[in-house]
Amino acid sequence: MRISVIGCGYLGAVHAAAMASIGHDVVGIDVDERKVEALSQGKAPFFEPGLAEILTEGVASGRLTFTTDMAAARGAEVHFVGVGTPQQADGYAADLTYVNAAFDALAAYLQPGDIVAGKSTVPVGTAAALASTVSDAGATLAWNPEFLREGWAVQDTIDPDRLVVGVPSGEEGERAADILRAVYHPAVAKGTPFIVTDYATAELVKVSANAFLATKISFINAMAEIAEVTGADVTQLADAIGHDVRIGRRFLGAGIGFGGGCLPKDIRAFSARAEELGRGESVAFLREVDAINLRRRERAVQLVIDGLGGSVFGRKVAVLGAAFKPHSDDVRDSPALDVAVRLHGLGAEVVVTDPQAVENARRSHPQLTYAEARDEALTGADAVVIVTEWDEYRRELSPEHAASLARGRVVVDGRNCLNASAWREAGWSYHGMGRP
Ligand SMILES: NC(=O)c1ccc[n+]([C@@H]2O[C@H](COP(=O)([O-])OP(=O)(O)OC[C@H]3O[C@@H](n4cnc5c(N)ncnc54)[C@H](O)[C@@H]3O)[C@@H](O)[C@H]2O)c1
Repeated sequence: MRISVIGCGYLGAVHAAAMASIGHDVVGIDVDERKVEALSQGKAPFFEPGLAEILTEGVASGRLTFTTDMAAARGAEVHFVGVGTPQQADGYAADLTYVNAAFDALAAYLQPGDIVAGKSTVPVGTAAALASTVSDAGATLAWNPEFLREGWAVQDTIDPDRLVVGVPSGEEGERAADILRAVYHPAVAKGTPFIVTDYATAELVKVSANAFLATKISFINAMAEIAEVTGADVTQLADAIGHDVRIGRRFLGAGIGFGGGCLPKDIRAFSARAEELGRGESVAFLREVDAINLRRRERAVQLVIDGLGGSVFGRKVAVLGAAFKPHSDDVRDSPALDVAVRLHGLGAEVVVTDPQAVENARRSHPQLTYAEARDEALTGADAVVIVTEWDEYRRELSPEHAASLARGRVVVDGRNCLNASAWREAGWSYHGMGRP
């Protein structure tokens, strides 16, 4: 099928390349010339495992092209819109400027029978408000939220755990759903749940999924706070409650909490939208979820201060990690960088390293000092802080090796990802999150 993908960021670039990899003819459209230039050469503008391969393949096959010219959308049967919906500069609500601009620009090139599938995460009610822009051209709007995880985005796009499609009622909606089934044919053929809903439900599925995940993380981090004042160990607690299948162990890793370009802004946008709808109290708990999450960053900083005897001023601190999570170079609202910035603000000589995200981190936080190599960051450090659980730190860094480079013996495990006893046995003063 002929497909256009409008917005080629973390979501759209992967979506475009993945759609080409399953056999469609795809044009990716973005307003960012540099991104389009890189993508046109088959180069991934950000780090995402497996993306470079399917991009190169798609571009070489001629089935995948990129442009800044919206007119290239004309002739595609399905148009996916995956532009950004960041937090508004002056509030909690989502900024829909990019979504509205993309729909306005696309409208001129729609043809009767086309399907426009919104993929951006939007406040409930957005699709209904946009539907007439699409239907005026004789096309149909569907809302098809995206659940991909950065770091697994290629796999999640080609082989998602479910597909959700919000459509208008009646035959028009059924036709739209059938066309999207055809777009996602390999996943549909293998029995992936394909859930057809109305617009509001599809929009809410996405934000409620993120609200649930954020709540699960903040729940265990709240338990970590209680563990800290009682001497309990939150990792054992998580293992023990996680054996209950109704609870499950995943997303129960206590640490410095969630960040990135989705969870924080999505729970805030959900709160803001619920307030607008007169149901603010229904999701008032998300304010607590957010507050618990932010407190954990402060806690990690306090552990470094305590570990260094009351002050970090003038002390060298190696910060291992900058990306908001491993297998990504995304530093948007990264808790790792937030910890680094706070330590820097307290007068520490912070050296940040990350296997993939140094370049992005340097751009967003030029005031910090960076080291490309882990061992360079560790050299001469008075304290070591692990804030992104890359294998390079979690599995491949032995406490003995770290001790051979660092000056001090203080390690703060912001992700509870190290073997505490191995580090202690090697002479380190180990400080975890919610662990004695
Ligand atoms: N990144 C994720 O893991 C993820 C997962 C699920 C859902 N989402 C949602 O997907 C949306 C996009 O997220 P992202 O992380 O890809 O953001 P991003 O900032 O990486 O990408 C957005 C892209 O849209 C482009 N753009 C902006 N205005 C445009 C316009 N008028 N026409 C064409 N292109 C335009 C930007 O230049 C940018 O390249 C958001 O709503 C986000 O919440 C993201």
